[in-house]
Amino acid sequence: MKNKKISILGSTGSIGKNVLKVAASFPESFTVVGLTAGWNIDLLREQVEAFSPLMVSVAEEEAAEKLRALLPVSSRTEIVWGQEGNEQVASLQDADMVVSAIVGAAGLLPTLAAIRSGKDIALANKETLVMAGRLIMDEVKKHHVRLLPIDSEHSAIAQALEAGRKEDVSRIILTASGGPFLNLDKESLWHVTPEQALHHPNWDMGRKISIDSATLMNKGLEVIEAYWLFDVALENIEVLVHPQSIVHSLVEFVDGSVVAQLGIPDMRVPISYALSYPERLETGLKRLSLTECSNLSFLEPDTQRFTALKTAYEAIRIGGCMPAVLNAANEVAVAAFLDGKLKFPQISKVVAETMARMDYKEDTDFETILAADHMARIESAVVLQEIAKRNTADD
Ligand SMILES: NC(=O)c1ccc[n+]([C@@H]2O[C@H](COP(=O)([O-])OP(=O)(O)OC[C@H]3O[C@@H](n4cnc5c(N)ncnc54)[C@H](OP(=O)(O)O)[C@@H]3O)[C@@H](O)[C@H]2O)c1
Repeated sequence: MKNKKISILGSTGSIGKNVLKVAASFPESFTVVGLTAGWNIDLLREQVEAFSPLMVSVAEEEAAEKLRALLPVSSRTEIVWGQEGNEQVASLQDADMVVSAIVGAAGLLPTLAAIRSGKDIALANKETLVMAGRLIMDEVKKHHVRLLPIDSEHSAIAQALEAGRKEDVSRIILTASGGPFLNLDKESLWHVTPEQALHHPNWDMGRKISIDSATLMNKGLEVIEAYWLFDVALENIEVLVHPQSIVHSLVEFVDGSVVAQLGIPDMRVPISYALSYPERLETGLKRLSLTECSNLSFLEPDTQRFTALKTAYEAIRIGGCMPAVLNAANEVAVAAFLDGKLKFPQISKVVAETMARMDYKEDTDFETILAADHMARIESAVVLQEIAKRNTADD
């Protein structure tokens, strides 16, 4: 494959590190030209030394200075910082592709900058599509770029869709592992700790997405992501719990054929697919052995215990800026849970209550969406205080 120049937004995160592992395994196929990180300067320094990118960005000026002091004076890497720095890396002239792997709403503007400068996007930051799916898809069309999903479910759907015509698709089925609390009763969910919630049974991921997987909000965000990526009616996007995480998702066609993509749960598989599309890399990763999988099971999600999935469907059904409100409130609530300020079932309550208090706003432009995100953070902080005080028995 022809050498591709890539920039990675969020290189110090779980996805970012896996992208660099893939890039390091195929030095003839990929050159890393840009990196961005938040605050993990020690790891970023190692990455700069290993890949010598042209430019790196960090969250704050102080972090930029710390990194500069750690690198040799001879280093060719330009160091920038903040939102502007992220956008500079995202639009680096030398890059062919940008991997969007910052966590949360902070990923939106750099991803937009990359699209507007004509880069193909390998998208892990699902929040970009949750917040501004309609506008982002318009930008993707306008700038003639490819948007390739890294999420394993969406990678599976993209691959399954290649088996037929778009107009012959009848259903998309997203699989969900069900998270660490799949079999826990409603009462016990009040007592789970952040440590237990962070311990995902099949995937090793960042903190925020691990909590989202435990509440099933992650699947809700993915339904919204699929809605925008694949342009399928919401009523034709379904979720099935599949605890083994082997069948990554399925597409049903009008003739009744169901096409699925299977594989071991390792993010380097969908990352490789997005980075090398339409070619495939010989990853050398462990092969799937169906005889070693004792059993593949599927069940309906329990939306009584895990209400976040229903709330996410409601947000996209309402439309406009409501999915951005959902996302912002969820980020606030997840952070509060990780800080020990909220009980696990209250995360979803904060999100639903914040949505109920916010007025509908059309998603006319990115400024309006960012304003809705901002207002939702303020409102959800108020809701959070009220909910955290409530007796669990009231809920
Ligand atoms: N992990 C997975 O397996 C997986 C699978 C599918 C999709 N995704 C999606 O991929 C995205 C990244 O997930 P992750 O698990 O890799 O997250 P993560 O491990 O928490 O990494 C997040 C990355 O974003 C950076 N970052 C955080 N806040 C930032 C800010 N305000 N400004 C600039 N950079 C910031 C972090 O930098 P520092 O660490 O240096 O502070 C880090 O590089 C999420 O949208 C997630 O939903 C992840």
